Amino acid sequence: MKALIQKLVEVPSPSGFEAPVRELIRSQVEPHADEVQVDALGNLIARKGVQSNEGVRIMLAAHMDEIGVMITHVDENGFARFTTIGGVRAYNLPGSRVRFLNGASGVIGVEKLEDANKVPSFQQMFIDLGASSRAACPVKVGDVAAFERPFQVLGDRLVAKAMDDRIGVAVLVETLRLLKTTPHALYFVFSVQEEVGLRGATTAAFGIEPHIGLAVDVTGVGDTPKGLKMEVSLGKGPAIKVRDGGMLSDPRLVRWMANTAERAGIPYQMEVLESGTTDARAIQLSRAGVPSGCVSIPTRYIHSPSEMVDYNDVLNSTRLLAALLSSPVHLD
Ligand code: CO
Ligand code: ZN
Repeated sequence: MKALIQKLVEVPSPSGFEAPVRELIRSQVEPHADEVQVDALGNLIARKGVQSNEGVRIMLAAHMDEIGVMITHVDENGFARFTTIGGVRAYNLPGSRVRFLNGASGVIGVEKLEDANKVPSFQQMFIDLGASSRAACPVKVGDVAAFERPFQVLGDRLVAKAMDDRIGVAVLVETLRLLKTTPHALYFVFSVQEEVGLRGATTAAFGIEPHIGLAVDVTGVGDTPKGLKMEVSLGKGPAIKVRDGGMLSDPRLVRWMANTAERAGIPYQMEVLESGTTDARAIQLSRAGVPSGCVSIPTRYIHSPSEMVDYNDVLNSTRLLAALLSSPVHLD
């Protein structure tokens, strides 16, 4: 599974420009799905199983987009100014490298600062692509780039850009592959434009009309020096979301997930996240409302170019989803 994760994280596909990663995911899911389609917004939807008497329609969502930057202006000396796509943080950028969809790479530079102890604003930064004139610059207004950073294995931990949410994508691909039988009609949605407001999941949920919605996404942790005040750690199992900044999970789904984990002997943690949200919010608020929850993969340094997960949590998230989806759902 590590080889799959590496392939997924290394493809640059910021929100709205998901085509490269979508083709990679399509090649991974096609052998295991009953039907694969791409909807009008670009969501990749893989269906497995048909709804039996004791089954329901379940939508699973992992977003395939990632945060990035978009060129707003190229000056006469070939330096490119940019705006952000999604929750990019200014303090992560100086010295970073970015890769454009056309293959061009650049370095993020900063104007001379009045106060070097203050985080510079995006307006004080530019991208240097090695060009010395506007004509020689290999990118133009509207072009997009993602962070460029190698995938690394540090013991049990995996580090890369775009773990948010390619690690969720990897978990769903692996779950689809592992799942032998299901009483449900399962819709594995690899959604677009999550980082700019859950837009892909919004339309996908409307189209699928699921009875139950589950997102698979990353969540913050409280186990780093002076970090978040939060009871989630790397390596202690998938986190079952109770709430985040944008939704309260359906408590029946929370119990279903916790009971399933207990019965299967899978470690898990309860997640109470105070800010941020996932595609589960969009599914929950779709049409007349859908009972929704989220399996979260604990992740350090979210939205930096070096997001870190624990491989055991990844494997246990896959096991938990396979256990959840292989039997009838009884909510109480
Ligand atoms: Co994110
Ligand atoms: Zn995410």
